[in-house]
Amino acid sequence: MKVLIVGSGGREHVLAWKVSKSPKVDKIYCAPGNAGIAGIAECVPIKAMEFDKLTDFAAKEGIDLTIVGMDDPLVGGIVDAFEAKGLRIFGPRKNAAILEGSKAFSKDLMKKYNIPTAGYENFDSADDALKYLEKCDYPIVLKADGLALGKGVLICQNREEAVSGVKEIMTDKKFGDAGNKMVIEEFMTGREVSVLSYVDGKTIKTMTSAQDHKRAGDGDTGLNTGGMGTFSPSPFYTKEVDDFCQKNIYQPTVDAMRAEGREFKGIIFFGLMLTKKGPKVLEYNARFGDPEAQVVLPRMKNDIIEVVEACIDGTLDKVNLEFQDNACVCVVAASKGYPVSYEKGFKITGFDKFRDDEGYFVFHAGTAFNDKGDIVTNGGRVLGITATGPDLKTARANAYKAVDWIEFENKYYRHDIGKAIDEA
Ligand code: AMP
Ligand code: GLY
Repeated sequence: MKVLIVGSGGREHVLAWKVSKSPKVDKIYCAPGNAGIAGIAECVPIKAMEFDKLTDFAAKEGIDLTIVGMDDPLVGGIVDAFEAKGLRIFGPRKNAAILEGSKAFSKDLMKKYNIPTAGYENFDSADDALKYLEKCDYPIVLKADGLALGKGVLICQNREEAVSGVKEIMTDKKFGDAGNKMVIEEFMTGREVSVLSYVDGKTIKTMTSAQDHKRAGDGDTGLNTGGMGTFSPSPFYTKEVDDFCQKNIYQPTVDAMRAEGREFKGIIFFGLMLTKKGPKVLEYNARFGDPEAQVVLPRMKNDIIEVVEACIDGTLDKVNLEFQDNACVCVVAASKGYPVSYEKGFKITGFDKFRDDEGYFVFHAGTAFNDKGDIVTNGGRVLGITATGPDLKTARANAYKAVDWIEFENKYYRHDIGKAIDEA
């Protein structure tokens, strides 16, 4: 069969790699893709939000299945656009992708269905939000309602910070229309864990856990980023935590969406915080995490095409989802200056040492070819350097060994990805 993947980052590279392992697949296309994805897929120069061009391409090429990596097209209704033309696609429709697309929606859903999350209020006027700040406890968390490239969350230590945060989001529209509404919520403390799951509308099957590192600098300092590295599994995600979440969070979320007439098919990514009062939902995403996918998919035993098709067909209950009993660590090699400003166009070397059959992967995020055909840096997050191992410590040592294989000017990475492993 022919598969089209929509997106251009490290997540789409690992998706393409995993799809390439399926015996059912003859040919992979990626729109728009990147220099690494080009090694296993034919990249087509169509952007993820160009739905008409994408559906025309899929129809013309006879694409059997489209898999969407990114949030923007899902929230914007790419699944509805494909389905309207009779094309098979994996992901939530627009009315279900709102689970990620509106934080106010997701908070109200959790409240209505008793799914544990931080206490909150929603606001659609800056004046009301500012009034609310007079009576709340600090720190407090401000969230732009809509998609904001993972940057629409502000943790404010005191009222002054919160007042300027509300103005940034709602008055100055720093995150654009994402700030037409906002959520103000209780600040929680605890360890964070990401759990991704496959959902067919009724049944949910969770994947192995992972942990991201969102801040740019060592020791969780600096600005928030898309994610600087991940490890899987999380040693803090115990059987007890899993039992609690299966009963109180995962299935209840799927049932709630169905009860609301918003049947969810696709990936639900649960961002959880393990608080002293038990696990609570920080956020929902309607897609694979990036770079969570880079550490979860290399550990997945199943043929991803079979699982994805079961989600579309509503037969996920028949699937026995299995993961290897090993560990995986991804260290993001970024351009110095990310997430603020950085230069592009530096030649990257050292790819030849990576062998996936030995558990070493280099997933491209921001790369391109220059005129001479060299692979060069083309983004803030450049590569997800990933390795497996029998346990977390070995996987981490392997990943950092592989980080040294890669060279490019202005290479920047965190040195403490997986440090939490030592505290487990
Ligand atoms: P989100 O985009 O909602 O995942 O938020 C980004 C990051 O902000 C999370 O990964 C947390 O580190 C932090 N965060 C979000 N909500 C809260 C909260 N209620 N309490 C503490 N930290 C939070
Ligand atoms: N790594 C976090 C995300 O994909 O949203």
